[in-house]
Amino acid sequence: MCGIIGYVGTGNTADILMRSLKLLEYRGYDSSGVAFCSGKSMEVFKCPDRVSVLEDLVKGHGENAKSGIGHTRWATHGSVSFKNSHPHQAGKVTLVHNGIIENYKELIQTYHIENRLLSTGDSEVAAVLLDEHYKGDPYAAISETVELLQGTYALVMMFSDRPDEIYAIRKVSPIVVSEQENGKLLASDLNALSTVCREYFVLPEKTILKMSLSELSLKDLSGKDIKPEYEQMDFGFEDLDKKGHPFYMEKEIAEEGTALRRCLASYAADGLPSFEDEGLDHGFFCRHKHIVICACGTSYHAGLLSKRIFEKYAGISTEVYLSSEFIYERPLMEEDSVLVVISQSGETIDTLEALRCGRKEGKESLAIVNVKGSSIAREADHVLYMEAGPEIAVASTKAYTCQLAILYLLAFAFAKETKQDGEDIAKLIEEMRKAPDLIEAVYEERETYHDLAKRLKDQKSVFMIGRSLDYYILMEAALKMKEISYIHCEAYASGELKHGPIALIEKDTPVIACLSQKDLLAKESSNIKEVRARGAKVFCFIKESIRKDFVQKVEVFALKDLPDDLMVFSAIPVFQLLAYYLAIEKGVSVDKPRNLAKVVTVE
Ligand code: F6R
Repeated sequence: MCGIIGYVGTGNTADILMRSLKLLEYRGYDSSGVAFCSGKSMEVFKCPDRVSVLEDLVKGHGENAKSGIGHTRWATHGSVSFKNSHPHQAGKVTLVHNGIIENYKELIQTYHIENRLLSTGDSEVAAVLLDEHYKGDPYAAISETVELLQGTYALVMMFSDRPDEIYAIRKVSPIVVSEQENGKLLASDLNALSTVCREYFVLPEKTILKMSLSELSLKDLSGKDIKPEYEQMDFGFEDLDKKGHPFYMEKEIAEEGTALRRCLASYAADGLPSFEDEGLDHGFFCRHKHIVICACGTSYHAGLLSKRIFEKYAGISTEVYLSSEFIYERPLMEEDSVLVVISQSGETIDTLEALRCGRKEGKESLAIVNVKGSSIAREADHVLYMEAGPEIAVASTKAYTCQLAILYLLAFAFAKETKQDGEDIAKLIEEMRKAPDLIEAVYEERETYHDLAKRLKDQKSVFMIGRSLDYYILMEAALKMKEISYIHCEAYASGELKHGPIALIEKDTPVIACLSQKDLLAKESSNIKEVRARGAKVFCFIKESIRKDFVQKVEVFALKDLPDDLMVFSAIPVFQLLAYYLAIEKGVSVDKPRNLAKVVTVE
């Protein structure tokens, strides 16, 4: 959360910073700010608003500056206000911060710096302490200051007596760096670098980066030089273009078929799952008898659904935990467990902590990640990349589909390597290959869901009911609806209704039922009758081939046919589109819903 940026060079600094901040804005959009160094003077512009508002403030400034830093904030400590916006200034120091300095209150007391603080947050404390320690040597000041900080940080700093020098250091919170013809750029993630570079490196933790017009260097805290390890970017700015779609979310749903095709091509060869190139050989699948999955939000929902698939096809016991709870639950992991963490961004701090916790206990770990080179990808023993391409909209769509595809293929690989002859598996993979076309067909029929959204947009609350895999599909559908349309929506296992939630059903309460599993037709039909008897208005999303057997007088929407266990692939885009159009109809911010951010780096 929070996006930070720094540039030194001969380009148009204002333009470069504003363009990069826009590409980082999905990390947080409570406030934004920049500081330019023009000779000996430092100009700071900030506002408790989005980058588009900042852009107006900055107009006509910073073009001739040779260096500058910027920030887009997701508020944690301290309200959304001007004084809590970054950059913070203290004496000679101008600073932006991503992360949380957990002991900031103790530091304020110990160093008696209350009177120097204008803000109510944690970040300004770092700026003041840095200024207190700064006696002309940035390395000494930074080293002494970070020794005092507990928590996580990516700090980017300028000193007024050292024009056009930028320093940075990080712990946990990411910083990536690139060098191009006209200068050097650092940012919280690769999206911000994508306009200008093909090569980058990840700043190692607790390493001081210095960027000036003539220098780019790294030193550890003992002063030893460190060599950056450059990597190639595998996407460019063109991948971040909306390509004619009004919102990233729509673009990403439209791309879901292509993303899934690419993912399947990466991990299924000759019709069977194939992970050897990623180091998952026969030994890997044989030595693990248990799977423990940790993830958050949408990634957690993919994990939940996959438990059924792992247990059914591979007969391997699977536990799924919310990353944020994993460290408290401390489940007794068997010796032969593999820890699987799932994260689109690869930076979610709760998932990173769960990974670290499992690795500390000596567990082999496998990360399913979308963003290449992210912290989780770097720290896990094995990585499978989702190949979904950049996902910018805060609401995750195509990444969910690709996460699931990998989890299914992993389950099939466990099955193939440990017990089955592979024939059933090959058939299922063949069926999975049909999913991308079906997803694209759903997208083509999007107006159907737009029409439904027009009718549901004024609802305060929507119920979703389903059994077995449908329940997990609906958990994800409900999350999508909540987070971008702000309609309260809960998914219930249909059989649980009568144990409490049915008390909430009254005349005209909207209930969305999902019925994608043939064997559940009778039971789910009864549950639909139960809510109808209490006056609910039911919208039933049913697998096309069983539609004729469902005879109730409710509004019905057909879900495209795949084998029951694969129905999530044709059902989920329907619910993603419904949530999308609800947000459109309500006129709320589709890609940047309130209070959220794409990359969640606070616990
Ligand atoms: C919902 C959504 C979030 C993320 C969650 C985990 O649409 O995007 O719930 O799924 O914050 O993020 P990652 O997968 O990056 O760890």
